[in-house]
Amino acid sequence: MWARLFTTALLVSSVLAIVVDKRAAPVDQLVGFATQNGGTTGGAGGPTTTVTSLAALRSAVTGASPKIVQVSGIITGDGEVVDVGNHTTVIGVGSNSGITGGGFRVKKGTNVIFRNLRLSKSPAPTDLIELQTSTNIWVDHNTFSSDLDHGKDFYDGQLDMNHGTDFVTVSWNIFTEHFKTSLVGGSDNTGSEDSGHLRVTYHHNLFQDVNSRTPSIRFGTAHLFSNFFNDVFDSAVDSRDGAQTLVENNVFQNVKDPIETTLRGGFSNQRNNIFTNSTLDTGLAVGTLTTVPYTYTQDAADTVVSIVNANAGAGKVTTLP
Ligand SMILES: *[C@@H]1O[C@H](CO)[C@@H](O)[C@H](O)[C@H]1NC(C)=O
Ligand SMILES: *[C@@H]1O[C@H](CO)[C@@H](O)[C@H](O)[C@H]1NC(C)=O
Repeated sequence: MWARLFTTALLVSSVLAIVVDKRAAPVDQLVGFATQNGGTTGGAGGPTTTVTSLAALRSAVTGASPKIVQVSGIITGDGEVVDVGNHTTVIGVGSNSGITGGGFRVKKGTNVIFRNLRLSKSPAPTDLIELQTSTNIWVDHNTFSSDLDHGKDFYDGQLDMNHGTDFVTVSWNIFTEHFKTSLVGGSDNTGSEDSGHLRVTYHHNLFQDVNSRTPSIRFGTAHLFSNFFNDVFDSAVDSRDGAQTLVENNVFQNVKDPIETTLRGGFSNQRNNIFTNSTLDTGLAVGTLTTVPYTYTQDAADTVVSIVNANAGAGKVTTLP
């Protein structure tokens, strides 16, 4: 009997060690849903090209063979999408490289990394990044910025995912000065392609001076940990159409509606979050998402503001992992 108790205790403590570990999380490592389904390596092993023009960028990111595309400087887009092929890493050089006035799309693709890019002001309907019917995408250490000078529909999304996209990690990014930040699940009518998919992890991101959708998620599964939500004018995590969310060790500061479930039929488990000047809805619909199928290290909520402010966004990690 003691042996059995001991084994049980060992088992419980090893499970706890995985799930409730709160050492400092590594800043340069892929964790989350993009580690599943075979993992996400982008263009690892392929040739590296450096581009400085829109035409060269468009051409360099197409095709399905592994490749690393370095963007040097801020490229001015033409308002249309830049379609990225399979097995591609797009990485900015130094601290001020990326694209303005246009955005990237991965459509029916797989295994793409976006890193160290400054992405700004893409006119609707082009999102800064759109992931459509795609799998294994890692969006890491980018700065997404727009402005709040126009109506909420002047720009579309900063980072949108739809049509059955799956296995995405969104880490260490800054999202700022925008209305409709990150929409996961584009419509109430796409349940047949989205249910069971749209699995996404958001960790160590800064959402600052944005209106809403950090994210808004329909049908899918979102795990959010150690993010800093600072000045969100409307709803932050908006769970709808049966979506399940697990929200832990985040800081919500000056957020009108930190977690929303009841308006549109989603679910949320929240634990160990700090709410400052932010009133959590006391009637949250509690869901079934309490564990995730990967190991991860959280930073405790009371350390999140300084860790995220110091390490999120472009210019912090300029090489590949
Ligand atoms: C890219 O990957 C997707 C998903 O595996 C596949 O369906 C598609 O055919 C690939 N595209 C090319 C051009 O190989
Ligand atoms: C909380 O709100 C009050 C009143 O609007 C404001 O003065 C204060 O600076 C806010 N606190 C933080 C941490 O932003």
